[in-house]
Amino acid sequence: MSPMHSFVLTTMACTLATAGLAAQDRLETNPFAGDSAAIVAGMGQFRQRCADCHGTDARGVRGPDITQVWSSGRTDGGLFQTVRRGVSNTEMPAFPAPRTSDRDVWQMLAYLRTLATAAPTEPPPGDAEHGALLFESECAGCHRVNAEGGRLGPDLSRIGSSRSREVLVARLRTGVDESRPGFQPVTITPESGPAIRGVKKNEDLFSVQILDTRQRIQGYEKDQVRSVVDGPRSLMPVFGPQRLSDADLNDLVRYLGTLRGFDPSVPPRPPVVF
Ligand code: HEC
Ligand code: HEC
Repeated sequence: MSPMHSFVLTTMACTLATAGLAAQDRLETNPFAGDSAAIVAGMGQFRQRCADCHGTDARGVRGPDITQVWSSGRTDGGLFQTVRRGVSNTEMPAFPAPRTSDRDVWQMLAYLRTLATAAPTEPPPGDAEHGALLFESECAGCHRVNAEGGRLGPDLSRIGSSRSREVLVARLRTGVDESRPGFQPVTITPESGPAIRGVKKNEDLFSVQILDTRQRIQGYEKDQVRSVVDGPRSLMPVFGPQRLSDADLNDLVRYLGTLRGFDPSVPPRPPVVF
């Protein structure tokens, strides 16, 4: 082979390799990273579409804090897919094309990246192991984690992925203002005997099905009971400082933060430090 030929071949091989890499790159790195106009556009989009759940500063409201997602080892490409597809069986919706373009998603991620903070060097407050013991004694009667525990409250196996620390603290300290479907408190007064409290599982014009506080599913015909009244309070107790000290609260919330899913085929995410 002449030197010229081998030069051409080498150049071609390099070009092909570079083209291959570029396609790969497009999937894995954000084309708008660091682009200030894109970041401003992304901020606008983020405020409109994401801030309700994640907060304007992305530190979490109803949804989790997502300022640390990069530090937990996620890639741009992976996050792009999370936003596109949502997280199934959670409140995280999908943002499909064409309503949300690739460009929109990348711009929002470019903005989010500017909010990413270095993982705090301070260890997060609280002792998760002690928190697990508290959970066992105070909470497991009503809440399941990894298929164990009571059913009066929602399954908390993923609660660390789905709520911010602040939301968890507020839920424990000040209670729930609005009950979620399936957990609405209800009081039934039969024709005779004491009132029965529970959470409402189903209701139609004529009947109501509840899970009572002894965790038995019970059905009632409305015309066979004296009254069916919503409320008065969520069955989730308020854990004030007398019932749960600040130190215990920290331990418990630290433990809740470690609960990140229970599907054994999905390896748990490395905990996002909050
Ligand atoms: C209706 C509420 C809601 C909206 C709107 C919403 N999210 Fe989420 N998001 C969630 C919840 C809840 C989770 C946690 C899901 C879980 O349990 O893993 C989540 C998870 C995420 C995650 C994954 C975090 C991780 O650790 O893997 C990212 C990234 C994310 N959201 C970005 C966005 C972006 C960007 C938008 C706007 C385009 C958005 N979200 C809109 C509720 C929401
Ligand atoms: C008597 C039963 C009961 C006990 C005990 C209880 N909970 Fe609850 N919890 C509930 C119910 C019912 C709900 C649903 C509240 C609603 O929507 O009204 C709930 C809701 C919650 C939520 C909100 C879930 C979400 O998806 O946002 C969290 C977090 C929570 N509980 C944590 C705890 C922790 C931690 C403890 C122990 C310190 C505890 N609960 C003890 C019944 C209980």
